[in-house]
Amino acid sequence: MGIQRIAVLGSGQMGNGIAQVAACAGYDVVMIDIQQEFLDKGLASIENSLARVVKKDRMTEEQANAAIAQITTSIDKAAAADADLVVEAIPEIPELKFSTFAELDQICKPEAILASNTSSISINAIADATNRPERVIGMHFMNPVPVMKLVEIINGRDTTPEVTALVVEASECMGKVPLACNDSPGFVSNRILCPMINEAILALQEGVAEPEAIDGIMKLGMNHPIGPLALADLIGLDTILHIMNVLHEGFNGDPKYAPSQLLQDMVAEGKFGRKSGSGFYIYS
Ligand code: 3HC
Repeated sequence: MGIQRIAVLGSGQMGNGIAQVAACAGYDVVMIDIQQEFLDKGLASIENSLARVVKKDRMTEEQANAAIAQITTSIDKAAAADADLVVEAIPEIPELKFSTFAELDQICKPEAILASNTSSISINAIADATNRPERVIGMHFMNPVPVMKLVEIINGRDTTPEVTALVVEASECMGKVPLACNDSPGFVSNRILCPMINEAILALQEGVAEPEAIDGIMKLGMNHPIGPLALADLIGLDTILHIMNVLHEGFNGDPKYAPSQLLQDMVAEGKFGRKSGSGFYIYS
């Protein structure tokens, strides 16, 4: 039997997007968070996102309502007990991930697959917090989840080919293109993306160009959909800083991964990008 029931842990930007694409694929989904308020916000985001899809005539209102009806919510992790696949999308705090996976290992049935949407924490380290490292895998969705095609699949040291195959199949059912890599700092996506963004911030810091010019050069010159500074605002500057620190430490202090001073200063000032209302641009 393949995957039928999916538990998504975390109802934030990534978690609610994952719950949405899983529900649209027809899976039974339970979205779990620590407060009902967070779950309500997550459900509202899903409704808004599906309304956009309906407006574009890519889905009927009935299909959107059917997808929403596939999602239940809970503030108790025990709701993941009968899931075939758990996708964790909680904050990027290593100790929190490890304790959560240790708890899920106790709660979930032995054959359940435990996946992490981590953008930077080692899948091997997460797997080591459980007694089922062969059933732990990285399932790294991209932001905004309903739109972006990629799921970066990260195989841990012990992940079995059967688990990878099941997760690849589930990703494809969700309309995504899964591409696999091995566990390594930043995996592939963030190892390449975040140093590029950091370099754009360095160019700004050194007065090479204004933000609009830096972004325009990358958009018009390289066909990027948005510029690196606007993308940093979308991802969150705190997240970019965190990933740069993971790369810097993970590659033994190699200076090419050192986070720029401007990035550090902006995060210290609470300028996180879109989510805080200001970053390289102002959001109302
Ligand atoms: N739900 C449903 N549809 C959505 C949506 C959402 N949340 N957000 C955007 N869309 C749809 C829009 O309806 C629109 O549809 P259309 O093409 O049929 O008109 C389409 O997506 C484009 O949206 P907009 O017209 O509003 O805006 P843009 O043209 O600027 O596109 C974007 C928005 C798709 C986000 C585009 O700017 C983009 O591709 N940006 C780069 C995103 C990116 O690189 N993401 C990866 C980040 S890295 C990451 O996530 C890893 C992590 O670990 C850091």
